[in-house]
Amino acid sequence: MTVKVIVKEDYQEMSCAAAHVVEKKITENPQAVLGLATGSTPLATYKEMVKGYKEGEFSYRNIQTLNLDEYVGLDKKHPQSYHRFMCEHLFDHIDIDLDNTHIPRGDAPDIEQECQRYEGLIDQIGPPDLQILGIGRNGHIGFNEPGTPFDSTTHVVTLTESTRKANARFFSSLEAVPTHSITMGICSILKSKQILLLASGEEKAPAIDRLLNGEVEEDFPASALKNHPDVTLIVDEKAYQKA
Ligand code: GLP
Repeated sequence: MTVKVIVKEDYQEMSCAAAHVVEKKITENPQAVLGLATGSTPLATYKEMVKGYKEGEFSYRNIQTLNLDEYVGLDKKHPQSYHRFMCEHLFDHIDIDLDNTHIPRGDAPDIEQECQRYEGLIDQIGPPDLQILGIGRNGHIGFNEPGTPFDSTTHVVTLTESTRKANARFFSSLEAVPTHSITMGICSILKSKQILLLASGEEKAPAIDRLLNGEVEEDFPASALKNHPDVTLIVDEKAYQKA
């Protein structure tokens, strides 16, 4: 399958285009299931979605959401939890019913059981009609690090040093970054009907180049997206350069 590529001038343009895709989806289907991601990349997309909501143009009342991942050991209220992230950047500013938002529980007493529960939830209320995805510099999607089997479902991962370092900017120190996370697996992500991959900035250029021009291999998790029939990459010019 080929990944559809849309190149935008900069981060803001990329984000407006992504928000537009989301808004089109929920206009077509006000009960759509959205797959959501964290990280810096989707921040301005969420901001645009909030803007569209405040301008009275869109409602999220009957939308369901499924997030990709969460750090193990952080409870919902922890400032760096992805729960908090989603509330601060999106859920608190739109008319979504919080009962319809789903994120793995990083503080579940039995993490393995939580993985099974979450995968069941994806099948029960999902799969997402539209999944928003970012990409790590090493090609990780969700928290699926290089080497993750393409048939993986929701599971616990040990974060690589490079991912912990990349995410340390959100924490007080590298030591404060959790060592494990729960993530939808690659198979879980590919269940989505449509995938919107976002990438911005020159540090993502090598990963985007490898995605578009490299092999499909487990050593590069994002390459699994080439096995999906409906993936659109919205990328800014800095991330769309030959590495
Ligand atoms: C984290 C998240 C991913 C995200 C990636 C890239 O590891 N678990 O879902 O895509 O980082 O993050 P950023 O968008 O901040 O570059």
